[in-house]
Amino acid sequence: MERLLVEPFYVMKVLERAKEIERSGEKVIHFEIGEPDLPVPRKVKEEAKKAIETCELRYTESVGILPLREAIAEYYEREYRVKAKPEQVIVTPGSSPGLLALLKVIGETLGEISYTDPGYPCYKNMIKFLSLKGRAVNVYPENEFKVKPQKVETPVLIVNSPSNPTGTVYTKEELRALSEKAFLVSDEIYHGLTYSGKAPSVLEVTGNAAVVNGFSKFFLMTGWRLGWLVVPEELVSDLTAILQNIVISPPTVSQIAAIRCFDQEVLEELRSNVEIFRKRRDVLLKGLKEIGFKIPAEPQGAFYIYADASRFTDDSYSFAFEVLEKAKVAITPGKDFGYNGTEKFVRFSFCTELSNIEEGLERLRRFLG
Ligand SMILES: Cc1ncc(COP(=O)(O)O)c(C=O)c1O
Repeated sequence: MERLLVEPFYVMKVLERAKEIERSGEKVIHFEIGEPDLPVPRKVKEEAKKAIETCELRYTESVGILPLREAIAEYYEREYRVKAKPEQVIVTPGSSPGLLALLKVIGETLGEISYTDPGYPCYKNMIKFLSLKGRAVNVYPENEFKVKPQKVETPVLIVNSPSNPTGTVYTKEELRALSEKAFLVSDEIYHGLTYSGKAPSVLEVTGNAAVVNGFSKFFLMTGWRLGWLVVPEELVSDLTAILQNIVISPPTVSQIAAIRCFDQEVLEELRSNVEIFRKRRDVLLKGLKEIGFKIPAEPQGAFYIYADASRFTDDSYSFAFEVLEKAKVAITPGKDFGYNGTEKFVRFSFCTELSNIEEGLERLRRFLG
């Protein structure tokens, strides 16, 4: 295989093949894509149109425009009852470059960074890309794929709650216990998408932690490329300098439009989407279990089901391609999320309409018997 500086997303190979099949005229059911399919609120789009008509859309401050930073800071007060100053909020072009800059600053100043396996692949890939020291902490279905505080042996830990790929949500007490062991980089990008109570922010238990969040999941705005960090004030100048150098500024039109996301009526519309995702999750969970997948930890948040496919395979990468070829159903192989037992697991995303979920289940039922 070609040698790359960082590992690719293996699911892209599945997606490429799925697109080929579709070009030949056959329908594929997409359970592999981690991108919400619901429409961006009208008010946000209207604001973007107005901005295009009336503004020149030049670069902005590297850390984002003040009204958006203020709106995000206020949101923390309203949503979590925590005080964050607008100066602690840094707006980034999607959360990914924010995470990259943050890991660089934290890794250089505090040292080795732990991340979970299975977990979101970019953590380990970014750590490698930045030539930082990183360590995988294996997490297991018996503990809902959560990190136990006694397993934390590095000065920094990345927690992702709700988690991709497992949908795990940490309680406030669990976050507190982890924050006593390490500086937490808390990836809260799936906040707002929870099915049994709100996910607590790390800022509810400590001010000495960094939050990564953004507009791609609950806010549905993947292609608008907008995210944010909330960080201790002493990190702001380093992060600002890095972002000046690597991104110059987040997209101006997206920033102006995103301010509307925090209007009460828009938030209510977005919150009502949770019921749509819940319904999909319930149908998919039930169907997968009936077919013979084991779901050792049912997702409490995000829009994924991490399913144990060991009844069908011990090589979930090949299995994903077999399911695609034979059943025309696209799924993400566990290999994308690390090395710890991942050859038995596949991830199903429920970012597709209920009718597609039902059809996908029917196809799997026919293929897997
Ligand atoms: C856990 C997690 N963090 C961060 C991201 C990055 O999202 P974005 O760069 O679109 O904000 C994703 C995207 O799938 C994710 O799953």
